[in-house]
Amino acid sequence: MSKDDPIILGIESSCDDTSAAVIRGPWLLSNVTASQEVHRNYGGVVPELASRAHQQNIVPTVDEALRRAQVKREELAAIAFTRGPGLLGSLLVGVSFAKGLSVALNIPLVDVNHLQGHILAHFISEEGKENRHPEFPFICLLVSGGNSQIVRVDSYSDMTVLGQTIDDAAGETIDKCSKFMGLGYPGGPIIDKLARQGNSEAFRFNKPHIPGLDYSFSGLKTSLLYFIRDRIKENPDFIEENKEDLAASFEKAVVDSLMNKLELAVKQTGIRRIALSGGVSANTRLREAFLKKRDKGWDVFIPPFSYTTDNAAMIAIAGYYKYLSGQFCQLDQPAYSRVTIK
Ligand code: KG4
Repeated sequence: MSKDDPIILGIESSCDDTSAAVIRGPWLLSNVTASQEVHRNYGGVVPELASRAHQQNIVPTVDEALRRAQVKREELAAIAFTRGPGLLGSLLVGVSFAKGLSVALNIPLVDVNHLQGHILAHFISEEGKENRHPEFPFICLLVSGGNSQIVRVDSYSDMTVLGQTIDDAAGETIDKCSKFMGLGYPGGPIIDKLARQGNSEAFRFNKPHIPGLDYSFSGLKTSLLYFIRDRIKENPDFIEENKEDLAASFEKAVVDSLMNKLELAVKQTGIRRIALSGGVSANTRLREAFLKKRDKGWDVFIPPFSYTTDNAAMIAIAGYYKYLSGQFCQLDQPAYSRVTIK
């Protein structure tokens, strides 16, 4: 770590996590996230409540990130923030805060695409850690609550979507199915935990047949819903009695689907350096499937758990590389709710 490296504050507020991080060059000094428990009662993120919670959390979260990093505001070289995609009301809190602070401190702003942030999380360096970063080009499977994409990454800024979901994202499907089964929200960690105790061969669900590298998960979701609806008619306790097997079989269908297309992408591109990103990358079965691929000659990169779900460290590192190439954001550039990798 060099004293001359720029110190950058990263801010993330695209959905229901208010997060702030400080980096010096590529080295992470702090990463603080305030998650919003309020949504659990509703089985999904309520946009209006999310924006209100961001308003309450943003100042203490940024203060805490600076305190833990032992950095004064005056030492910051730039502010990186998530400009989109995400919930507009949530984004506006982080975007407005970042703009206000940049004016007050008279330092540049760097806007970050949230999806690129998830991918560039693989370049965060931490003191005392192995810090293995993928070389370019690599393929990234980006799976979160809002996205399921296979992305070819040629540089910190040159990314091409090779395939993506044509309907629901993988995380969204898991969350919806968990909610339908009455298991709770967010469904990912719940399904993951139950699946560890279940038999993944117990039930079969329809797998989508979509050409090319695109995904589809809505058919799988409907297949699970109809299957459970029919079984409940015969046995009202069907879910309770089979929740582990249901979770394991459903999780296997999602992971098989993700991995099949990824294998096709490797075949088509000849690139065997493969990274995993996004909230669903915390999933045990998916991580195991990835690690197994090392036997087939893949060089795999799996993020630490702290960088799987939304966090500002990934925004700060993505901002750092844009800062180095002199790409800054003007004050009149608005947040955007929908956009893919660009
Ligand atoms: O990346 P993320 O925090 O937010 C978005 O940008 O969308 O991803 C959240 C998604 C949720 O759908 C959540 O259920 C899922 O990641 N998730 C998991 C696990 N942990 C979180 N899915 C499967 N297994 C997990 N262990």
